[in-house]
Amino acid sequence: EKAGYKHFMAKEIAEQPAVLADALRHYVENSGGVNPALRLPEGLDFTQIDRLTMVACGTASYACHVAKYWFESLAGLPCDIDVASEFRYREPPLSARSWALFVSQSGETADTLAALRYAKDKVAKIVAVVNVSTSSIAREADLALPILAGIEVGVASTKAFTCQLAVLALLALKAGQDRGRLTAAQVQAHLADFALLPGLMNHALGLAGEIESLSDQLAEAQDVLFLGRGPMYPLALEGALKLKEISYIHAEGYASGELKHGPIALIDNRVPVIVLAPRDHLFEKTVSNMQEVMARHGKVLLLSDAAGVAEAGAGCWQALTLPQVPDLLAPILYAIPAQLLAYHTAIAKGTDVDQPRNLAKSVTVE
Ligand code: M6R
Repeated sequence: EKAGYKHFMAKEIAEQPAVLADALRHYVENSGGVNPALRLPEGLDFTQIDRLTMVACGTASYACHVAKYWFESLAGLPCDIDVASEFRYREPPLSARSWALFVSQSGETADTLAALRYAKDKVAKIVAVVNVSTSSIAREADLALPILAGIEVGVASTKAFTCQLAVLALLALKAGQDRGRLTAAQVQAHLADFALLPGLMNHALGLAGEIESLSDQLAEAQDVLFLGRGPMYPLALEGALKLKEISYIHAEGYASGELKHGPIALIDNRVPVIVLAPRDHLFEKTVSNMQEVMARHGKVLLLSDAAGVAEAGAGCWQALTLPQVPDLLAPILYAIPAQLLAYHTAIAKGTDVDQPRNLAKSVTVE
């Protein structure tokens, strides 16, 4: 069942280019060909709403957090995001001119399901983004969009996360088009970029060897920080969650700009700081935060593209070079090295990667 891999997690990380291509074939007419077009189900008219509320737990909630950047910047659609365990008890006011969107790999997470039931008669539509199409969350939603990741066995969510991001990005493009923020030609250009993603992901998987050779040193750390800006901030949260859940190393993700508001006090030469920074319009700002870390002898591991590594790699403890990627797709691509870092560090520590202590694949109690 592990198809020659040592762990389900390794298999599921490696499957990402293929399952993502499946998802694209499902949601994009002519994916990879000329004139690609979105193929989303009826009933997703984003002119009908003035707010989107997204709710999930754990990794799925970080997918929502990334998507908030996309919906707001590409479609001018205000978004709320919350973790389901807080949302359900907060009594959040919900408008009839909004949709609530629930993201869940299993579709059975108790808090997410309860949050869905709370939202049920308060919003215009309940949308679910799920991996298991027969799940409770899929059944109780007005509209369920499968992510088509295939069965995910490893407790640490990997391929479900990147497929969730892909589906959410396509929804954000639809929202941008519906709301007049993106022209049909712009959407088409984004979809053409999407077709390159499986290839770019294969490239990122090629970093496994380099990452493995860093893992012994990472495995010695007591604490690890992940930093990112913009949509890479939730990626930093995801990288930290992945590392702590399977390697049991204490890890935190921060928005790069928040560092100086407290966490920088933690930095010394024993704290690896993993910086997720494609060379985009926010790069210079992230680099200046990174330099604050280096000035305090923090061990920076920079994840960027060739231009970013050439510009800012000097003085870093290590740098990993990813392929250059369109901004929209960067969080999907950068998830891969974050997963590989967690995986190889856990292997170096000898933990049970697929069944980490205290965790269950599907959390059906609150
Ligand atoms: O099945 P769900 O997507 O609803 O699960 C949500 C979280 O329990 C899940 O993402 C959890 O955080 C993973 N172990 C993360 O790797």
